[in-house]
Amino acid sequence: MEIVILPDSAEVGRVAASVIADVVARKPDGALGLATGSSPLAIYDELARRAAAGELDFSRMRGFALDEYVGLDYAHPESYHAVIDRTVTKPLGMDPELVSVPDGLAQDVPAACAAYEAAIDAAGGIDVQILGIGANGHIGFNEPTSSLASRTRIKTLTPKTRADNARFFDSPEAVPTHCVTQGLGTILRARRLVLVAQGEAKAEAIAAAVEGPVSASCPASVLQLHEHATVVIDEGAASRLH
Ligand code: F6R
Repeated sequence: MEIVILPDSAEVGRVAASVIADVVARKPDGALGLATGSSPLAIYDELARRAAAGELDFSRMRGFALDEYVGLDYAHPESYHAVIDRTVTKPLGMDPELVSVPDGLAQDVPAACAAYEAAIDAAGGIDVQILGIGANGHIGFNEPTSSLASRTRIKTLTPKTRADNARFFDSPEAVPTHCVTQGLGTILRARRLVLVAQGEAKAEAIAAAVEGPVSASCPASVLQLHEHATVVIDEGAASRLH
């Protein structure tokens, strides 16, 4: 695992964006794995800047989001369908037809999860997966105790994650209780992983992920099993590393 420690969030975004840009330049019809949340916004800003400057063309890239809330209308501004459209698809100039988000409104959730895995396979797999990390060590919405071999499936959000995400909703109770998320096994199949984290609130999770044992109690520790994983963090997020 490669660890890159940088002075601030904008720099984290720039360095992580260069990893993504290399993949897009080399394989303009490849597949990106997309995280939502605050952490990757600096990456998307930098990629959007480069796309606007004509340095990168995302029009043939596929995108696969990591996760989606269950039961939240896609018209809701905090559904990950809406968030991905607003923060990734439009600013990067991706083709909406080529961008997929797990189906949190499916009648048959297990069938929709299997179809999502099949769509990733049909696209030839994910070339580079962008990841944030929860304060409890989750990646995607794979909360602690998730199986290291898990695939896309429905999960219950922990009280900690619902509280952390309450800032996006009108009230803590409005945060959905369940999600559909790519599994840890799904994430590990991506050819390259780039995890970003900023701020001291993530320091403990980063230390557990990078220096702790590989364990379901810190799902992000599975990055230690991947041969091409890069962790790009600021000094706050690095503050608990030895
Ligand atoms: C969202 C996701 C989550 C977030 C994590 C950190 O698609 O996969 O794992 O990356 O909850 O969220 P932020 O970046 O908002 O702190």
